[in-house]
Amino acid sequence: MVLELEVPLADRSYRVLVGSGARHRLGEVIPVGAAKAAVVTQEDIPWTVDAGIDQRTFLIDGGEDAKNMETVEELCRGFARWGLTRADVVVAVGGGMVTDVAGFAAALYMRGVAVVHVATTLLGQVDAAIGGKTGVNLPEGKNLVGAFWQPSAVLCDIETLGTLPEREYRSGRGEMAKYAFLGVEGLRDMPLDEAVAACVACKARVVGDDERESGGRALLNYGHTLAHAIETVGHYNLRHGEAVAVGLVFAARLARRLGRVGDDRVEEHEHLVRSYDLPDRLPEGVEAPALLAAMGRDKKATARGLTFVLDGPAGLQVVTGVDPEAVTATLAEMR
Ligand code: GLY
Repeated sequence: MVLELEVPLADRSYRVLVGSGARHRLGEVIPVGAAKAAVVTQEDIPWTVDAGIDQRTFLIDGGEDAKNMETVEELCRGFARWGLTRADVVVAVGGGMVTDVAGFAAALYMRGVAVVHVATTLLGQVDAAIGGKTGVNLPEGKNLVGAFWQPSAVLCDIETLGTLPEREYRSGRGEMAKYAFLGVEGLRDMPLDEAVAACVACKARVVGDDERESGGRALLNYGHTLAHAIETVGHYNLRHGEAVAVGLVFAARLARRLGRVGDDRVEEHEHLVRSYDLPDRLPEGVEAPALLAAMGRDKKATARGLTFVLDGPAGLQVVTGVDPEAVTATLAEMR
């Protein structure tokens, strides 16, 4: 069974299909009038798609190191050589790295061409492929260059999760844990397709209310300020969802240090993260000064200093101007 959800964005609303075999519905979501589909994927992704129109595959390298402007330029040059036009479509088949890069190339190519995401990882399905954030890394930080570019549709094929390496699957659970703290209940007890759909529904609601992150969408970054810093400083030794798991526990501990929550809430965070078999302590080799510098370059950082999404009596909130000493002391707790 394939579940159907919608990201509600007025005339740019789009469908998200979640279920086993959802990738076979690609032909029905290709934009009307598209004659060519540029399929962007990676060599080790075993899933093929049939767009039902003339299609060509463009391979990109794997890993965060290839998530850069050079890869985007190569893609766009490949699109141009093949004769992709503004009426055509890019189809991204893969995890968050592929949908971020292909989505960004689609946003830039000829000032914007339609993109459909076929998300083949848990992390991509519950987060990266939904909501229109696209972009690449700079040596200075993760996702520092990008664009909001909403897809025309997203296909979350549960069948593709069956072959994911265990570590990749676990990484997706780091983003799932985030949704538990955003109020999605019972995730651990649901069948996988329903759990993915519940996360998608939560994200669709948030994005529908605040597409450009001028308000509530920032809460989707819960755990991410430290997570992105760990990824940058640690040269991506941790997977994104693993770093998010550490970031969630850190955020709870920081909130406790600032008097916003008690021990019970910290324990809830640690319990959930551990029950997903995810790390709840900082990895070796990422030192506090480097993490603080990286967090200072985070997209949410303002002139008022470090910014975090923190739990509190009124639930999750964006908190600006957090004292760096409180951050350093909390990082020391996380060793
Ligand atoms: N991954 C956070 C967002 O899409 O806003």
